[in-house]
Amino acid sequence: MIITKDAEQVFLRGFDLKIAIVVDQPRSSILNNEEGFQEDQQSHRMMGYIKEALSSDYEVICLTMDSSLINRLHEEKVDLVFNLCNGIRGEASLSQLPAILEYEGIPYTGSSTIPHGLAYNKIFSGKIFKASDIPTPEFIYISSLEELEGVKLDFPILVKPKDEGSSRGIQNDSLTFDLPSLKHKVVENLMKFNPPMILSEYIEGREYTAGILGNGSDLEVLPILEVDFSALPEGMNRIYSFEAKFAFDESIIYHLPARVDKKTYEMISDTAVRAFRSLGMRDYARVDMRVKGDKAYVIEINSLPGLDKYNSDIIKMAKAIGMDYDDLIKLIVNIARKRLNLLEDNKIGIIE
Ligand SMILES: Nc1ncnc2c1ncn2[C@@H]1O[C@H](COP(=O)(O)OP(=O)(O)O)[C@@H](O)[C@H]1O
Ligand SMILES: [Mg+2]
Repeated sequence: MIITKDAEQVFLRGFDLKIAIVVDQPRSSILNNEEGFQEDQQSHRMMGYIKEALSSDYEVICLTMDSSLINRLHEEKVDLVFNLCNGIRGEASLSQLPAILEYEGIPYTGSSTIPHGLAYNKIFSGKIFKASDIPTPEFIYISSLEELEGVKLDFPILVKPKDEGSSRGIQNDSLTFDLPSLKHKVVENLMKFNPPMILSEYIEGREYTAGILGNGSDLEVLPILEVDFSALPEGMNRIYSFEAKFAFDESIIYHLPARVDKKTYEMISDTAVRAFRSLGMRDYARVDMRVKGDKAYVIEINSLPGLDKYNSDIIKMAKAIGMDYDDLIKLIVNIARKRLNLLEDNKIGIIE
């Protein structure tokens, strides 16, 4: 168990560390629309909440991931970075800040470069889940319609970009039931998102998300959250589509903890832990799953899940066991500190 007062006492040494919370450059600089603007606002709000949470125990500054970052980190003699950077461009955008910090030898919270890259690319992570015998939807990926020739497809099929988040590129009509609508969606998506596109088996079943904290054998699964789409208007597919997330969010019902029997709960929790380990996640992550039959199918891992004080799933999960926002943020720092101490002693590796 990591969520004990003991763990906090051992690893919390008060004002001995200087922490820099690092956020992305404004995304509105490349995504000049309402969505980009909203994301920047959200990221700044999150930075403020985290600073507030940590300031009672640490000296905390806030920095932006721009070309002056390395100098600023050294000038400020930062001991630990609280990473909030998704990156604003590139196939390995989540890995960019970790890569810079590793090059500079500055420790940081959360997963390292390769695991972030693997989690962000749903083709790579899907292959690893399969190779690790972790249930995950069957999928193929294509960069052009010609590649579909001679391929037998079992509908329904969900068309999705390989590396987006927040349901970008997953619309209500991304769930396709015949070849013409599938082709239409693939062509539409290929104009907007980087190829290849994933054509995924549709897992019809209830949806769950599990927050995991810790490292090595010291992992804790927070209460599992069920995302219930049954109240979405008729005609809307039961998926966490862009429309469901942003236009019909009031019709989405969250059950915390999930409405499942003990055996199913343990099965979901166990699958989430195996998925976390299979990609070499560190400190904290969130695993999205759907249950069909007696298996939980891993849909994706969010290697840098949101930590917004009022909206983020992982915060709601922590609240369900009486951990408030500030406690959770401090715990993430303590988990990172514990890992760093152990790494120095060569007691754990990145992949368990
Ligand atoms: N293979 C699948 N079967 C069923 N539903 C899926 C599948 N893949 C994605 N979904 C639905 O689409 C949503 C978003 O997909 P996900 O891969 O998690 O994208 P994002 O990174 O945008 O969250 C999921 O929460 C789920 O509702
Ligand atoms: Mg998701």
